[in-house]
Amino acid sequence: MSAATDKLIIFDTTLRDGEQSPGVTLNTEEKIEIARQLSRLGVDVLEAGFPIASPGDFNAVQRIAREVGPLMEGRTGEGRVNQEMVICGLARSTKNDIQTAYDAVKEAPRHRIHVFLATSDIHLEFKLKISREQCKERIAEMVGFAKSLCQDIEFSPEDAGRSDRAFLCEALAVAIRAGATTLNIPDTVGYNTPQEYGDLIRHLKANTAGAESVVFSTHCHDDLGLATANTLAGISGGARQVEVTINGIGERAGNTSLEEVVMNIHTHPSAYPVHHTINTRLFFSTSRMVEDLSGMVVQANKAIVGRNAFLHESGIHQDGVLKNKQTYEIIRPEDVGVTTGNLALGKHSGRHAFKTKLEDLGYGGAALSETQFQMAFTRFKDLADSKKSGVTDGDMHALVADVRSSS
Ligand code: KIV
Ligand code: ZN
Repeated sequence: MSAATDKLIIFDTTLRDGEQSPGVTLNTEEKIEIARQLSRLGVDVLEAGFPIASPGDFNAVQRIAREVGPLMEGRTGEGRVNQEMVICGLARSTKNDIQTAYDAVKEAPRHRIHVFLATSDIHLEFKLKISREQCKERIAEMVGFAKSLCQDIEFSPEDAGRSDRAFLCEALAVAIRAGATTLNIPDTVGYNTPQEYGDLIRHLKANTAGAESVVFSTHCHDDLGLATANTLAGISGGARQVEVTINGIGERAGNTSLEEVVMNIHTHPSAYPVHHTINTRLFFSTSRMVEDLSGMVVQANKAIVGRNAFLHESGIHQDGVLKNKQTYEIIRPEDVGVTTGNLALGKHSGRHAFKTKLEDLGYGGAALSETQFQMAFTRFKDLADSKKSGVTDGDMHALVADVRSSS
């Protein structure tokens, strides 16, 4: 991280777009617990919900604004965020939605209204049944109304990824004139390629009247597995806010994963001219909290926070890592809060890893004779061959006891 680069604003939407994952419903207490953790993590803007959706949603956003909005212990400290988290509420382009979103967030010391309206022809014609001109008029009126309530206004042209570029520039210029301070560019259906999305942000910044006075933001969905790549391309194109969720949860295939974007920047500092104030050491615990409360199980091989993300099973890899971790690790597990061992014992494991595991379990030095070690290793291989789930610490203790009693 460097003060010479631009600050990348981390906008977390786990509690709004993330909660739109099929089957996920979080109660108010659970949302508050996650919001507190996201504040400790160092998130800059928290989209706490969609207040018009239900009285429960309104209540949760209002309580987060009151209870988590003020600067809290665990968020501040050396090298950490020294400002309150902005609490944001989503609103469609209607006065009732916008007023309700404002009423829900207004007690947070820093608050934002996020107004959206689709701009792609397919949404205008079939969903909203309005013309492009009517779309621009509604943006002017609704962003203007939001601005009469609150200074910090974000506008999203929904389905921007499939909208006509010239029209998008006109619509965004209208939003800027009406008072928007952040322009979020959603690839709502995860359709864009990284090249296309990066170019889109670059094009909008260069061709929208007033663009220099606002922050451009990415909002990518993962329908083609490109959400993280598209978000990073958006940063390269000039976006300085990213909309992300923990574990990448969200509608359909999900949103961009917060931890993936941040660790890409961390791993390639010279590739992205931005810095952030996220405490990456809280990634693993935050991921597990969201997994437990949302019931959305994190796939074992998920980058950064999957159970297997830092485990090495094959003998060649284990031997390499035992000699020098950097042979097969590009991220230090402790940097993302992973503190458990990195060796998975299975049928591909070799003697080196087996011996190291025995030592970790307290069977180092002369605990086993050379013959006992050989017997234990042979039995371990037989066991690993027959077990689908890998060899556990309990299996290892049983194996040692067995070898000792039979020799
Ligand atoms: O994906 C999307 O277009 C959204 C908007 C409401 C920002 O979530
Ligand atoms: Zn979305």
